[in-house]
Amino acid sequence: MAAILEVKDLCKTYVIEKRQNNVLKNVNFTVEEGEMVAIMGPSGSGKSTLLYAVSGMDTPTSGHVLFDGKDITKLSANQLAEIRLNKMGFIFQQMYMMKNLTILDNIALPALENKADRAGKAEKMKRAEELMRKLSIIEVADNDINEVSGGQLQRACICRSMVNKPKLLFADEPTGALNRTASGEVMEELAKLNGEGTTIMMVTHDAKVAARCKRVLYIVDGNIKGEYLSGGDSTAENERRLNNWLLDLGW
Ligand SMILES: Nc1ncnc2c1ncn2[C@@H]1O[C@H](COP(=O)(O)OP(=O)(O)OP(=O)(O)O)[C@@H](O)[C@H]1O
Ligand SMILES: [Mg+2]
Repeated sequence: MAAILEVKDLCKTYVIEKRQNNVLKNVNFTVEEGEMVAIMGPSGSGKSTLLYAVSGMDTPTSGHVLFDGKDITKLSANQLAEIRLNKMGFIFQQMYMMKNLTILDNIALPALENKADRAGKAEKMKRAEELMRKLSIIEVADNDINEVSGGQLQRACICRSMVNKPKLLFADEPTGALNRTASGEVMEELAKLNGEGTTIMMVTHDAKVAARCKRVLYIVDGNIKGEYLSGGDSTAENERRLNNWLLDLGW
């Protein structure tokens, strides 16, 4: 397996009124193609900052982020925007959907805007519909964004993040706003996408969600403090082991 993401000595410092806040301190890790990795850690430990820095949404203070072997910290804004649109998908807690568009049109939008994708409009709309069918929300295709449940909206966000067939999907607490059932459904879909080849890196507070990932990185105060590899005979056993591991880390 080849590395899709290599993070080397990544640092991020915020300066507010001359006070420095070193949020990421020499973070190093690699994500292999096809992996599903969870990032866990206390609130304020730098998880979202890490996700933004490695996905090119924010510029690191120093260090390198190699995506498919290419250092994205060295790219121009346009080059970076192109890679983000074509190769990466994003799911964030605050879900920005356009109010004046239907759910289907919102999902299709990134594909329609993607000039590098030569497929016609009809084909892109069909792709958006197929994703909605796959995530069981096709019945709300023509609804406005305020006419769907939280779980449906989150699944719509996953569809939208997948419409350009990204190689790597970033998610910041994709199940954060959902109840147990909806959260389980969303994880089921993410695991399916991962099974079909999409690499996934997600931040989560939920051990049940993290237990579905093959690897968990635990970050404390801007550093990776531990790494957990999934194991055990069953999901329940893996979840129990992960919980024990988290307890030992002071979770
Ligand atoms: N844009 C910003 N400007 C200044 N400081 C920031 C900014 N974003 C985050 N921080 C600071 O960086 C630190 C880490 O924040 P971050 O959002 O990465 O934490 P987190 O681990 O995602 O927490 P949570 O679990 O609560 O989402 C915090 O001290 C926060 O105040
Ligand atoms: Mg966060």
